[in-house]
Amino acid sequence: MKKFKRTLITSALPYANGPVHIGHMAGVYIPADIYARYLRLKGEDVLFVGGSDEHGVPVTIRARKEGCTPQDVVDRYHTIIKKSFEDFGISFDVYSRTTSAIHHKFAADFFRKLYDDGKFIQMESEQYYDEQEGEFLTDRNIRGTCPYCGNTESYGDQCEKCGRDLSPEELINPYNAATGNPLVKKATKHWYLPLDEYQSWLEKWILEEHKEWRANVYGQCKSWLDSGLHPRAVTRDLKWGIPVPVEGAEGKVLYVWFDAPIGYISNTKELCDAQPEKYGQWQQWWQDEDTRMLHFIGKDNIVFHCIVFPSMLKAHGGYILPDNVPSNEFLNLEGDKISTSQNWAVWLNEYLEELPGKQDVLRYVLTANAPETKDNDFTWKDYQARNNNELVAVYGNFVNRAMQLTKKYYDGIVPKCGELTEYDRQTIAEFRDVKERMEALLDQFKFRDAQKEAMNLARIGNKYIADSEPWKVIKTDPERVKTIIFISLQLTANLSIAFEPFLPMSSARLREMINIPSAIWTELGSMDILPEGKQLGEPVLLFEKIEDSVIQAQIDKLEATKKAREMAKAKAAPVKPLCTFDDFEKLDIRVGTVLECEKVPKMNKLLRFLIDDGLEKRTIVSGIAKYYADPSALIGKQVLFIANFAPKEFKNGLVSNGMILSAVDADESLVLTTVERGVKPGSQVG
Ligand code: 2FM
Ligand code: ZN
Repeated sequence: MKKFKRTLITSALPYANGPVHIGHMAGVYIPADIYARYLRLKGEDVLFVGGSDEHGVPVTIRARKEGCTPQDVVDRYHTIIKKSFEDFGISFDVYSRTTSAIHHKFAADFFRKLYDDGKFIQMESEQYYDEQEGEFLTDRNIRGTCPYCGNTESYGDQCEKCGRDLSPEELINPYNAATGNPLVKKATKHWYLPLDEYQSWLEKWILEEHKEWRANVYGQCKSWLDSGLHPRAVTRDLKWGIPVPVEGAEGKVLYVWFDAPIGYISNTKELCDAQPEKYGQWQQWWQDEDTRMLHFIGKDNIVFHCIVFPSMLKAHGGYILPDNVPSNEFLNLEGDKISTSQNWAVWLNEYLEELPGKQDVLRYVLTANAPETKDNDFTWKDYQARNNNELVAVYGNFVNRAMQLTKKYYDGIVPKCGELTEYDRQTIAEFRDVKERMEALLDQFKFRDAQKEAMNLARIGNKYIADSEPWKVIKTDPERVKTIIFISLQLTANLSIAFEPFLPMSSARLREMINIPSAIWTELGSMDILPEGKQLGEPVLLFEKIEDSVIQAQIDKLEATKKAREMAKAKAAPVKPLCTFDDFEKLDIRVGTVLECEKVPKMNKLLRFLIDDGLEKRTIVSGIAKYYADPSALIGKQVLFIANFAPKEFKNGLVSNGMILSAVDADESLVLTTVERGVKPGSQVG
């Protein structure tokens, strides 16, 4: 394998149209961070680049939905996402954004060079156009009737009801998803990168020279290449994005997948220009063959990072290509696909609010379940079990015992190591080659197994201290206990190094306890990290048990999401037969103020209202008692009621003079039809 001088790590730029969730973390950011931390621990020259992907249609869709500008959307989510990454210890050297001026210029210049060098082909095609809005639509913004299942709200690229992939041309009666306007076809020109021209070069570079790439990555590339590459449009008719820097391209922007990966380069440039003495020149990271570039991504990004972006770099010339693209599969949540639009996710910002201080627990669980070779599932029960049975009962318990006993017997000072027993030797031997074992796994991006190795060390330590029973031996052989504790402390110090790439926050707490300023990777496996006589710090618990109620609250929250989704899907009742204005005029609907409201004794379905109707006080009886535990809460509210509803007498002699208008929500709760602001009682509705 070629010896490189430095490593450039990129991690997919998340769309700034929502916060990041556990799927993003497990698939991309935690593995990339583990690898960056591991290389830094080994003293290697590393640059870890991240940033927000702020262009593209999803941002514009959200902006329209929220009634704000795309810039508002990306400003909000860039801030939230950046903070989540900081909170979870994702150790980017730079985290910038694709709306930055540096990026806009860099991406536009990149396009312009390819344009000037004749690397694009220009083609005209017919695209759907909304004449009223004066805009072309992208596939996601087009809806219409699915030709396969008749779903009238199918997207232009996929029908969510029957799951078929579609093209907008297949939709019957296509319309603008945002405005509902019908669409017409109109000719438009775009620039295409002729990927077919790079086909044989890509086949050689990937299929012959990178057989070592993960099977899922290699397999996906092979299947794309086998079906033959075609020119790909790199511009779009859209208002939001980087304007195409060519005359006659007004109203067109760079396709988001053209500008986003260039964001890796422009973010590097931003950092290097700001701190050249620390990071050097950006070209050294992107254009020097001695740099090893790695793209950490999720599987939906494989084609862009292995085929499209490398072709762009090749077309430009002067750039290095990725040495590897460690892409993960997907993480599911409680058996279902994580979905931003369906709110089926554990969002990092919410996780931290609800489970403060538990960043490392999530990091641990997501690495233990990392979807490295196949899709995997996150469940809250598994999260709890891994915390309670592994982090608390094994790692935390061992460290706590070693620290507490040192404090109790030796005032927190590392005791002297005496003669070793056979069992001591065996235990030490199990640590001897752990560095090599972990390196072999980390170098192959097998983070799950590498973390397992670290936890296995904790298991060995836990067993060692439990088997050696220093709390008993202290009564009969205090000299022997010194050796047991000495060894236990060395194992503890080893754990602080082994876990450092995975659980940086608890490793830092542990280092503070054992009073070592930084983890030194080469010391992993060594039994003299903490010298005899060294004063240790105060023991603190590394992890805490998580109770059932905490987990149940999270499960309930997801259940509520599911319920809300089902409610949203529930169809409204069909509209009744038409009525005329005369029919409507027969009803005298008015505003009234609730003066009294109480349950009717012995008639548990009924509420008795006393209403100020502007003329007098009238009684209305309504069968809605089950919706209100405390009817008095309605006093003072203004409601709509039918004033000329024929009186109705109940069994107990109570007479109702009218009907209050209300609506039952899909979740079976009731909403009284009320008025927007105070209105004079008796006002007529019409
Ligand atoms: O799939 C996504 O979330 C994209 N925003 C990833 C972009 S990666 C890179 F090219 F910037
Ligand atoms: Zn369909």
